[in-house]
Amino acid sequence: MQTSTQAIARIVPLDRLRWIAFGHMESDECGAMNEFLAAAPRAEVAHGAVGCMVSLDDLCDRAPRKLADGEVIDLGGKRVRHIDTPHVPHNWEARVLFEETTHTLFCGDLFTHTGDGPALTEGDIVGPALAAEEIFHATGLAPATTATLRRLAALEAQMLALMHGSSTGTRCSESLLSLADAYDSMINRA
Ligand SMILES: [Fe+2]
Ligand SMILES: [Fe+2]
Repeated sequence: MQTSTQAIARIVPLDRLRWIAFGHMESDECGAMNEFLAAAPRAEVAHGAVGCMVSLDDLCDRAPRKLADGEVIDLGGKRVRHIDTPHVPHNWEARVLFEETTHTLFCGDLFTHTGDGPALTEGDIVGPALAAEEIFHATGLAPATTATLRRLAALEAQMLALMHGSSTGTRCSESLLSLADAYDSMINRA
């Protein structure tokens, strides 16, 4: 079985790998972080200030690069914007990434749904996400949660790239707003 670093090396040589980025501190997000730092000598972990202060300054084998909210890393042809989203979908240090040239929002755990769907769908992603929320209770349904989702909707993403489920290039802002409305109802019911 190949390791995660061997798998990445099939796409980009590890000595060219420059940035290691993820949504928040969980094993499925960043469990191999230090393996990558060891295998890729030029790579740095890049995360928001809270994530660095609370965890990454201590956990990373090389010091992480701290990003301000809205700061952009220019990859040369692609521009990746870091956006702080505290507690959305969960964890204090949560963030999402927005690639500005393709208008791709890397959603992390947002819209997580169960099942083994296709990589891309034109179908509804809000209903399946709400069904999964009923099972896992994974989202931090806090007072600021829905305002954060509405701020993400204003990005007018053209692709929602999901970590757990089918990604979509249709009705992106509408789906974020629908998710926010549904969470508002859940918060009001509680
Ligand atoms: Fe997570
Ligand atoms: Fe996850």
